[in-house]
Amino acid sequence: MKIVSVINYKGGVGKTTVTANIAAELAMRGKKILIIDLDPQTNLTFSFIRPADWEKNFAERRTIKESFDSLLEGKNFDITKLIYAPSRVKVALAGRGNIDIICSHLGLINVDLELATLLGGANMRQSKQNFIRVHRRLADGLAEMEDDAYDVVLIDCPPNFNIVTKTAIVASDYILVPTRPDYLSTLGIDYLIRNVASLVADYNDYAKEGPAVTEEIQPATIGIVFNMIQERSEAPISAQQTYMQQVRRQSGLTVFTSYIKRNDTLFASAPESGVPVVLQSHSGGTYRSVVEGLEEVTTEFAGSIGLV
Ligand SMILES: Nc1ncnc2c1ncn2[C@@H]1O[C@H](COP(=O)(O)OP(=O)(O)O)[C@@H](O)[C@H]1O
Ligand SMILES: [Mg+2]
Repeated sequence: MKIVSVINYKGGVGKTTVTANIAAELAMRGKKILIIDLDPQTNLTFSFIRPADWEKNFAERRTIKESFDSLLEGKNFDITKLIYAPSRVKVALAGRGNIDIICSHLGLINVDLELATLLGGANMRQSKQNFIRVHRRLADGLAEMEDDAYDVVLIDCPPNFNIVTKTAIVASDYILVPTRPDYLSTLGIDYLIRNVASLVADYNDYAKEGPAVTEEIQPATIGIVFNMIQERSEAPISAQQTYMQQVRRQSGLTVFTSYIKRNDTLFASAPESGVPVVLQSHSGGTYRSVVEGLEEVTTEFAGSIGLV
């Protein structure tokens, strides 16, 4: 089971779109995928589940918020109870691999403040232990699962670096950073990578004084995948190439050679249909070329996490 956080501070760069489409394409290739929506904006959730369904069957007791709420009550929690197999994408997969989801909740936005009250302690040692306990919430939940329950777990992170986001980093083997090729979207990448490194350093330092022997974490940054690329003559337009090259030179991270093309029509309507773009069937060269980009990105992704 490989656990991957999809993260960027910036909203609207394609975290959710990348998560949904990589998950869908890997499932099409026969893999067992779990996606976890950690963003209170619940976009990933509503890309697979109808809002009325969510309201009726999930809102009350079946979202990732339950896991954090029970931590606040000092209780253990079995996150497998949250897992659900959304039906529309299942039909599209026609018996190949599968996608399960753990939904998010709008109320997750308040959870960070509440979790912060669990940090600190009477002395340094207790503070460190509390830090580990809180930040391991998601990791501990996932560790309860059989290792072969899923090939890949993809966590769609919110655009911040609050405690809930940090629980995703702590749980992850890998980090994937989607971005758009524009100034503001690429600006925060360095800062993000520095913050991840500092979280990992703190965690590993505190882990030594954990309640039990707590293993060190070492999430590897897979790299950056560009989204919303506009092409001319089958190459990104020059304004975008400027930012792509800049990120390649300055970030020191791997940048995927494949990218996701911009297509407002296809990507705007996919969430409502419950089936990611890569699994839809449309005719026409434009659709085909968008799907090819998504397939290539997925192949690079699979290679970078050693998925066979
Ligand atoms: N390649 C693309 N072409 C056109 N629109 C896109 C593309 N990728 C994402 N979008 C749209 O941009 C918006 C933001 O994407 P989203 O994946 O939700 O970003 P994030 O999760 O980082 O906030 C959504 O409305 C989505 O449909
Ligand atoms: Mg999102």
